[in-house]
Amino acid sequence: MIAVLLGPPGAGKGTQGERLAAHLGIPKVATGDVLRAAVRDGTEQGLAAKAFMDRGDLVPDSVILGMMKEVLTSPEAVRGAILDGVVRTVPQAEGLTVMLAELGRKVDKFVLFDVAENELVMRLGGRTVCENCQTPYRGLESGADCEKCGGTLVRRKDDEPESIRNRLRVYEAQTAPVIEWAKEKKMCLVKVDATGPVEAITDRALKALLEE
Ligand code: AP5
Repeated sequence: MIAVLLGPPGAGKGTQGERLAAHLGIPKVATGDVLRAAVRDGTEQGLAAKAFMDRGDLVPDSVILGMMKEVLTSPEAVRGAILDGVVRTVPQAEGLTVMLAELGRKVDKFVLFDVAENELVMRLGGRTVCENCQTPYRGLESGADCEKCGGTLVRRKDDEPESIRNRLRVYEAQTAPVIEWAKEKKMCLVKVDATGPVEAITDRALKALLEE
């Protein structure tokens, strides 16, 4: 199963991606997590990506397409993967489908998490993340311990109000067109109501993923 999670910043792609991957026994890959780890480790890729990420802009397609190839050909992804935020522009969507076709594979489902904008702003404004494993939290302050790995919780630079506003604008301008692209290309696209309890959203997303 290869599933691409789509949705605006704060829609819960990270939260649900982790849970769906655990349920399905396949890895979750998030380009945001990979890029933040590269920034933290001071790699060439990280240094190139940092300014884009801090502003809330997208990292250039060329960087992301290179990352996709590494992910899709890695042994962990043989049985499939939950791809969280991996596709954010039409060229990335096209690049992914071509890469998969060359490997004799395809995207089984695009899952669009649907949340109203005022809820997104509230979620992102209140988020902390583990600086080690990147698990997102709500209602825990910076400096608290991660319940999963014991790492320290921090606020993301791009969760400052100006960056949040820019990320929402960038989503509408560059990522929302992927939804129309998927419809035009007759891809299997399912929309999931991503409001309410986390567990109920996982149930809805799993049902959408597993039904024919
Ligand atoms: P990325 O890290 O992917 O950021 P994002 O897309 O903006 O998404 P978020 O991580 O902010 O939100 P989410 O949907 O995962 O929500 P979460 O589960 O955390 O990317 C960061 C940057 O990297 C990009 O801006 C870009 O620069 C770059 N990048 C990455 N991929 C790229 C690509 N393909 N191309 C180009 N550039 C790329 O939840 C949010 C909060 O809400 C949490 O606090 C959570 O606890 C809470 N929450 C979750 N579910 C619920 C619920 N049901 N009710 C209440 N609260 C909830």
